[in-house]
Amino acid sequence: MKKIILLLAAAILSLPVAADEGMWMLSLLKQQKYADMQRLGLNLSAEDLYSPDASSLKDAVVHFDGGCTAEVVSSAGLLLTNHHCGYDQIQQHSTVENDYLTNGFWATSREKELPNPGLAVTFIEAIDDVTDYVKKELEKDTDPNSMNYLSPLYLNNLAKAKAGEAFLQNNPGMSVEIRAFYGGNQYYMFTKKTYSDVRLVGAPPSSIGKFGADTDNWTWPRHTGDFSVFRIYADANGNPAPYAETNVPLHPKKWLKISLKGVGENDFAMMIGFPGATKKYYTSWEVEERRNIDNAVRINMRELRQRVMLDEMLKDPEIRIRYSAKYAASTNAYKNAIGSNWAIDKRNFEQVKREEQEHLAAWAKAAGKTEYPDALKAMEKIVSDRKDLRYRLWMLDEGIMRSIEFAQAPVKTDDLAEAIKNKDKTELSKQLAVPETAYRRFADKDYSPEVDKKIAKAMLAEYRRLIPATSQPAYFAEIDKRFKGNTDLFIDHLFDNSIYGSDANFNRFKSRPSVKALKEDPMILFAQSIAEEYKALNQALQGFNAAYASAHRSYVKGLLEMEKGKMNFPDANSTMRLTYGQVKGYAPRDAVYYNAQTTLEGVMEKEDPENWEFVVPEKLKELYRAKDFGRYQTADGRMPVAFAATTHSTGGNSGSPVLNADGELVGINFDRNWEGVGGDIQYLPDYQRSIIVDIRYVLFIMDKYAGAGYLLNEMELVE
Ligand code: ARG
Ligand code: ASP
Repeated sequence: MKKIILLLAAAILSLPVAADEGMWMLSLLKQQKYADMQRLGLNLSAEDLYSPDASSLKDAVVHFDGGCTAEVVSSAGLLLTNHHCGYDQIQQHSTVENDYLTNGFWATSREKELPNPGLAVTFIEAIDDVTDYVKKELEKDTDPNSMNYLSPLYLNNLAKAKAGEAFLQNNPGMSVEIRAFYGGNQYYMFTKKTYSDVRLVGAPPSSIGKFGADTDNWTWPRHTGDFSVFRIYADANGNPAPYAETNVPLHPKKWLKISLKGVGENDFAMMIGFPGATKKYYTSWEVEERRNIDNAVRINMRELRQRVMLDEMLKDPEIRIRYSAKYAASTNAYKNAIGSNWAIDKRNFEQVKREEQEHLAAWAKAAGKTEYPDALKAMEKIVSDRKDLRYRLWMLDEGIMRSIEFAQAPVKTDDLAEAIKNKDKTELSKQLAVPETAYRRFADKDYSPEVDKKIAKAMLAEYRRLIPATSQPAYFAEIDKRFKGNTDLFIDHLFDNSIYGSDANFNRFKSRPSVKALKEDPMILFAQSIAEEYKALNQALQGFNAAYASAHRSYVKGLLEMEKGKMNFPDANSTMRLTYGQVKGYAPRDAVYYNAQTTLEGVMEKEDPENWEFVVPEKLKELYRAKDFGRYQTADGRMPVAFAATTHSTGGNSGSPVLNADGELVGINFDRNWEGVGGDIQYLPDYQRSIIVDIRYVLFIMDKYAGAGYLLNEMELVE
């Protein structure tokens, strides 16, 4: 009996915490996770996913514009990613006459595909473990406080030395990079190939690509066709080259087959992409810090700002357009912070981490390894010592720098003052361009001084309520001295008297520039004071960096040593990873269950012609009424839109290909549910879901809605 219990206990201990947890390194997949993937249904060999020698699925996946993922879907370099990932490019090509954001865009021939200066995509050619090499090099480092072990500059120089000049020179577009993993306990070198001629091929209208907008963002059930289409171009030899008319579509090493078979609950699903950042190795003190400082400040301050913004947006359609992108950016991180704190509480992450720490301390004690308990003590002290500074920095950042736009007025006025003093005409006109440019930025198409003023009044009052006077930027003393503490009067004063306050003020200054006006300008003094405070806080906080990095590295090392048998994936760091799981719905609350798949039915249910977020284009309604779904419909005749899966994804995974057990493309990842964002700290098997647009909806929109069916001819569709 005892034996059985022991065996059982051993079996339970060796079970992974949650089967779907993890963002895995492709080069380690075979020994780490391949067997488990097969158990869940994968039909491919490990080499089909990743092979150092032959072409494999990883060769069809690119890092898109540094922050998203995209996948190659044809032998002519056609790329799929999200609408929100291509948003900047779509916006840049849009004019009032050709508003591609509103109406969508489809290049009807290759000549009409639109170039995007600055946009690049990167393939990962090779992934190598270079831990021994880096550690040997680091031994030459004699400075005990050196942070070379995490320094991108230092590590990339090592990478260049390893690859050799000749290799880099003979291979256009090729670069190498060494990245630290597990806080600097392991190192991988990535050989990358970057293409910089990437053209826009197509995008649905925002009423499809951004359907549900901010209200639906981070939520399931979802009904967004969040995709856009690009194409990679290369020179005649297939090499990366800057944009040129003579460039030709890239013939890639690998492109994905596309499945028309669809997905069902519990089907195997995996995605390859470039997740940005997770915090799996947080200590309990950092969880508390994140919850009570970072997230709490963000939630409080953004709520305030968004309320003012939304009020103004609802009153005036002109303001709504000007502020919609800012509003969206603000709520995106705001909703994420709410979900993060919800999960921290709901799953008691602090307690979970505390137990992990206690476990480590006990194990280290038994093993006589004092460095790990020491690292924990150091962490606790660092987090406690930086508490006040961190709170002040977050308040300044969220409460003022990111929310009051005139706080970004140029703060360096010395050169201009010099030119005014010297009465040097050419120099003066050159220097005047600085405030002029800044002023024009304030007057540009996504700003309103009236709205900024209202936001500033709300934010400043809240900031002053929460931060003691002695810890505020020095110039804020004026508020008590001259305005009896009334922040509204102070803000009015800034606008009335600053050269940036109004056209009249700016023009007066421009026609008769004076050093006195510049030096006494209240808005410039305000901005200067904030910049100084920001710098001082940052510098003070940087004082903790070396000790923090060293304690974190040691803590992670201890955990890895203690849990040798367990596979601990490294935190996401924008390097290529694979995550797998199943298509699955979830129960958000008692007695409620969300299905794993949404359909066009739901788009129609959400339709609201009065609300820009939920307008449904007429053509889509016609297709719906006629049930003209072609070969893209489900077996029971419905049009699939999105599905949810247990894959462990995060920001940066947007645009990632979602593949079935045969490695065929079944969807494009674009979001997570808000109940799942806490997975950046600790995976939540029962709550966390990736939100994925069904590839059949993507093809349906291209073919039936946009009449761009010709693009499907270059894809390999599997019925
Ligand atoms: N929440 C997703 C992400 O973090 C989508 C953001 C874009 N969509 C939006 N409505 N803001 O990137
Ligand atoms: N929407 C995110 C992105 O753009 C994905 C996520 O956070 O799950 O990468």
